[in-house]
Amino acid sequence: MGIIFDEKNRIFHLTNGSISYVLQISKDGYINHLYFGKAVRSYKGSNSLINYDRGFSPNPENHALNRVFSLDTQPMEYPSYGLGDFRNPAYVVQLEDGSTISDLRYVSHNIFEGKKKLEGLPATWTNEPSDATSLEIITMDTVTNLQVVLSYTIFNDYDAVCRSAKYKNCGKNNIKILNASSMCLDFRESNFECISLYGAHINERNVQRFKLNHGCQSIESKRGMSSHQYSPFTALVRKDTNEDFGEAYGISLVYSGNFAIKVEVDQFDRTRVTAGINDFDFTWLLEENEEFQTPECVMVYSDKGLGNMSKTFYGLYQDHLSRSIHTKKERPILINNWEATYFDFTEEKILQIAEKGKELGMELFVLDDGWFGKRNNDDCSLGDWFVNKDKIPSGIDGLAKKIKSMGIDFGIWIEPEMVNEDSELYRKHPDWCIHVKNRPHTYGREQLVLDLSRKEVRDYVVEVITDVIKDENISYVKWDANRHLTNIGSFTLPADRQRETVHRYVLGLYDIMDRITSARPDILFEGCSGGGGRFDAGIYYYMPQTWTSDNTDAICRLKIQHGTSLVFPPVSMASHVSVVPNHQVGRITPMSTRGNCAMSGNLGYELDITKLDEKDQEEVKKQVAFYKEIRNTIQFGDFYRILSPFEGNETAWNFVSKDKDEAILMYFKVLSEPNCNVTTVKMKGLNPDFIYENEELGKFYGDELMYSGIAVPIQKEDFASKMWVFKKVAE
Ligand code: DGJ
Repeated sequence: MGIIFDEKNRIFHLTNGSISYVLQISKDGYINHLYFGKAVRSYKGSNSLINYDRGFSPNPENHALNRVFSLDTQPMEYPSYGLGDFRNPAYVVQLEDGSTISDLRYVSHNIFEGKKKLEGLPATWTNEPSDATSLEIITMDTVTNLQVVLSYTIFNDYDAVCRSAKYKNCGKNNIKILNASSMCLDFRESNFECISLYGAHINERNVQRFKLNHGCQSIESKRGMSSHQYSPFTALVRKDTNEDFGEAYGISLVYSGNFAIKVEVDQFDRTRVTAGINDFDFTWLLEENEEFQTPECVMVYSDKGLGNMSKTFYGLYQDHLSRSIHTKKERPILINNWEATYFDFTEEKILQIAEKGKELGMELFVLDDGWFGKRNNDDCSLGDWFVNKDKIPSGIDGLAKKIKSMGIDFGIWIEPEMVNEDSELYRKHPDWCIHVKNRPHTYGREQLVLDLSRKEVRDYVVEVITDVIKDENISYVKWDANRHLTNIGSFTLPADRQRETVHRYVLGLYDIMDRITSARPDILFEGCSGGGGRFDAGIYYYMPQTWTSDNTDAICRLKIQHGTSLVFPPVSMASHVSVVPNHQVGRITPMSTRGNCAMSGNLGYELDITKLDEKDQEEVKKQVAFYKEIRNTIQFGDFYRILSPFEGNETAWNFVSKDKDEAILMYFKVLSEPNCNVTTVKMKGLNPDFIYENEELGKFYGDELMYSGIAVPIQKEDFASKMWVFKKVAE
């Protein structure tokens, strides 16, 4: 268990008894990938590499007379460019003479318990050194003295291997990094399908599954943020892999900026995956002794389908990535005023909403956008983080105090990374935004992005935001970011470092998130970027929940939450009941369905609850009370996808408490169908030997609920849903 080093054959076997990852240092110092998958008890080389003379696959200098050896045919751990391997390289560097050839070879290695921090970047961590074992392989290009340390960590309790690479210029001459992947994974086959998550604003994380083709298929962002459009995640699965069976390799980047996950099938039907910072419009200058750390890539292996892959991500990310003290705490049911008022509110209105929220049982009021500067619209004041006393005469502290005294907590919205031209901040510091000198700005929601690569900008943001949230009555903060990066340039960076701007921005973002969240660890932070535009593992390190989407329509949310659940647990998905007709798509759905969908995640409300009629108020009150009863199982139990909204008219999922004493089944049907089949939903994850009782359906053994299933009565309305709670009554 841990990392076994076979000194004679120079083979490293990373294993936790459940998975194995095997690599070997060749005689020439190349690092070959040998295996990743279900655990093998001791790797002896049954799949040793067999080389043949391959046409047009060059032989390196040390094999000049040995035509059967070519890097083009080797499974590599961190392949270089230009020495015979024509597949996507893991990295490319440019030397001062303009050449782009380098050749990293093994120098030495370290094996140790635990895991080192990644300087300046979010990454998985260990509580105790005994949680994981790490391997560092030190490689060097002797011509340039470029050193690259490849890091691997295997966790004992989670079937995941985490990788990253650290560059150091140990020579005298400058080196320019053109591409620096976090990892490369070479499979000796192409018998895979690829699952990725694509989308748009108010339509995030649609599940796409496609067969691999020869050539390169790439999932990437060039938007400066991980984006609504593509998530930094991919799974390679077998043709017959489904939720419960089959192999799945889940690849998730702990990064929030431009990323690329490239999957390439080559001439011999083998598959190479590289993942990391997108090399598009990226370079990084390494001067003598300077270092560069890549983000971390987490690779999960499951031989029990996608459900188990997701379960591993949830566990690993909750236990070893999210660092918030709220990660394992029940989350408050909130009422947010955004869709209730947008910018048009007064202190009185806010107090009325909070008061009604308290009456209905809600636990936290969130004051959204529009409380600062002169922001009565979305065209001004970002950067001016002082309260608008015309709207809130009591100030934030006064308002927070009033709301707290009602017996409900108070939270606030901020968008620290942005600035409007129409703001005091911009008028004072017009060069503080990301832009190319002498070019007109490009706008997104009429705002510009602050240049977080600059220390003085970061210090200002940290100071002003820390001040905004210093009031002890603030217990929650929603951190928004409402545009992507364009016209990219930094005022202070030299010409040969301009293409570092985006990554420096992301490092700057992590720096301010680190400082601001550490200053108030008691605050529950929620990530947001125009909804779920930055729902990624990098942000998850700082913030244990994210506003899943600006789309609050329950039917659209089924897909959005299903897609998100491939990597992130339901508790991390903020999910609100809103008004009908829905503001984003105009759909009218029953309150019960809106409730059931929102209760499938981290429940909140976002509508003018002061305007609800008696009946709806009663229903909301019941939902809130009911969610409090089931919240622990929803938020901290196991989650199982049963029917996919991407495959038909119905969606179903269930939650099971860790002790398996309680289970909650949710079923949704989008459109009513005439004379249709009676669907049987088979629950998952129950104890087959427990007897469970549901008030409506009666008592059943767990095995019956799972294997025989539940017949769902035909729903004679559109957008219908059902929820059943099962409690263990005997075993
Ligand atoms: C986008 C967010 O996703 C919304 O919830 C809301 O906070 C607005 N921004 C406010 O401008």
